[in-house]
Amino acid sequence: MKILVINGPNINMLGIREPGVYGTQSYQALLDLIDRTAAEQGITIECFQSNHEGAIVDKIQDAYGKFDGIVINPAAYTHTSIAILDALKAVSIPAVEVHISDVDSREDFRQISYAGMACEHRIAGQGIQGYRQAVLYLKEKYATRL
Ligand code: DQA
Repeated sequence: MKILVINGPNINMLGIREPGVYGTQSYQALLDLIDRTAAEQGITIECFQSNHEGAIVDKIQDAYGKFDGIVINPAAYTHTSIAILDALKAVSIPAVEVHISDVDSREDFRQISYAGMACEHRIAGQGIQGYRQAVLYLKEKYATRL
């Protein structure tokens, strides 16, 4: 099984950006957690981060036929990007939306998630562990597919 983990703008600043909201663990700590999860679960996981909407759209399109699942935290693009929503719908790869913070209890402008409309599951407010949960969810779904 191959999973693509996509992170949007400013996720590379984890540990530095607003630690009270996003925690003190770095982006490298997130990559290490994902590597450990892949090894433990016997699956392949590629990680991609970009601050650019078009690069994220390109990466989703490129995943077609190559990946069995997508874990995506579109970060601020969650709340603005119909292009990312359309790309996820175009490739039809099972996708899980992850947010490090509890977006539901934050500002009004964070209450809409366009990308989430193309995701079958959502994990928010679990810190970086949310990515691990998303991978486990996709692996379980893949194992029980018809
Ligand atoms: C975020 C929440 C978004 O509202 C915000 O713009 C981010 C990160 C999260 O992981 O909690 O950059 O997606």
